[in-house]
Amino acid sequence: MEMLRIEGGTPLAGEVRASGAKNATLPVLAASLLLDEPLIIENVPHLEDVTTSNVLLAHMGVGVTMYDNMALAVDASTIVRCEAPYDLVKTMRASILVLGPLLARRGHADVSLPGGCAIGSRPVDIHLAGLEAMGAEITVEGGIIKARAGRLTGTRFAMESVTVTGTENLMMAATLADGDTVLENAAREPEVVDLAQCLVAMGAEIQGAGTSTIRIRGKSRLHGARHRVLPDRIETGTFLAAAVATKGIVTVSQTDPALLEATAEKLAATGARIESGSDWIRVDASAQRPRAVNIRTSPYPGFATDMQAQFCVIAAVANGTSSVTETVFENRFMHAAELERMGAMIRPEGNTLVITGQPTLTGAPVMATDLRASVSLVIAGIAASGTTDVRRVYHIDRGYECVEEKMAQLGAQIQRLPDKQPVGSTVAS
Ligand code: EPZ
Repeated sequence: MEMLRIEGGTPLAGEVRASGAKNATLPVLAASLLLDEPLIIENVPHLEDVTTSNVLLAHMGVGVTMYDNMALAVDASTIVRCEAPYDLVKTMRASILVLGPLLARRGHADVSLPGGCAIGSRPVDIHLAGLEAMGAEITVEGGIIKARAGRLTGTRFAMESVTVTGTENLMMAATLADGDTVLENAAREPEVVDLAQCLVAMGAEIQGAGTSTIRIRGKSRLHGARHRVLPDRIETGTFLAAAVATKGIVTVSQTDPALLEATAEKLAATGARIESGSDWIRVDASAQRPRAVNIRTSPYPGFATDMQAQFCVIAAVANGTSSVTETVFENRFMHAAELERMGAMIRPEGNTLVITGQPTLTGAPVMATDLRASVSLVIAGIAASGTTDVRRVYHIDRGYECVEEKMAQLGAQIQRLPDKQPVGSTVAS
């Protein structure tokens, strides 16, 4: 086990590069299973979740070649088993994304049912209902989703709640179905649009990605392609939120400001000065303590749930009282108790945290629980006075490329150390 030790009190200053988006890379890797030819993926982030995906693909017999310029070539022509076993799925829930492509291309798939995780029960019932609507026969035996289908049939399917990976799974499956598919109440996230662009490059026919209604005309086969993953809007927002929490000045380059308008709006509401260009965005929060802001998460284009924990840190040191309401997941406040250990004044009211800003936080040993909660504790440690040890740092490595190097590049006093303390079970988010 490892931990991050942080000596706080340093306003962050400088420039970092955004990596490719984790939540776009994972579905694009799964899309390679629709092909018998190589898919070349560029701007791939160096993350634990990508490594786990590559291990899963290799387990299936899929060829994965890594190049030194953050590019991967994935060739599913050598696939020998259509399964995703529990020991891999439990470390990365997004493994469920192989279900749709395997069923569409190979007619069968055995995928471990992803259990719940730290932030919620995370069901996949909508994924399964959509595939059944396309003609799949699905049973769940011993925690394994067993799916069988001849050629899937295009259908109209309304998702009862907005699900990002559900939309992605069904969109991928529909690209090889017989006939047209209409997905209603589809997720509008930029990562869904990025996947659609990759599928179109592979020869798929897709209209409406990025809107609530996506139309897919099924094809008999798709072909190899090259796709560059879009920048990570959550990583970008995370570094900008860190600038506000530490009253610093941070520029994120090689990103796309248009992907994080809701976040930028809330960053500006704290009183920070925001500037941006075509592929960069800068936050200057050096003039004053952040103002309190109210946050309510919702599916894109609303305020991202993946930015909620980071804004709790801003609220913890803001001038005034903020409310932070989480509407997407049922248990995404575990960072609150850890922030309270650092002196944050937080009162839970159902799915809302009422946070009364304090002039400063105080460093303490804290425990990471899920990906975004973990990075919020790093930000809090940098903003606080004194020393903070963030334990179970493996959570962060799943979704942030070289987080301590990038934070150190911005002036943070941060180092990765072995953590000799006994820790409990590990459950992915
Ligand atoms: C994706 O998760 C992201 N992961 C999450 O990012 C992100 O927080 C989430 O979307 C919301 O934006 C990836 O893209 C790999 P959902 P996903 O299905 O698709 C309910 C991170 O930190 N639901 O949109 O699993 C579900 O319970 C991660 O990078 C069903 O009820 O989330 C939740 O309440 C964390 N039935 C809501 O929908 C289903 O079949 C949204 O979940 C599917 C989902």
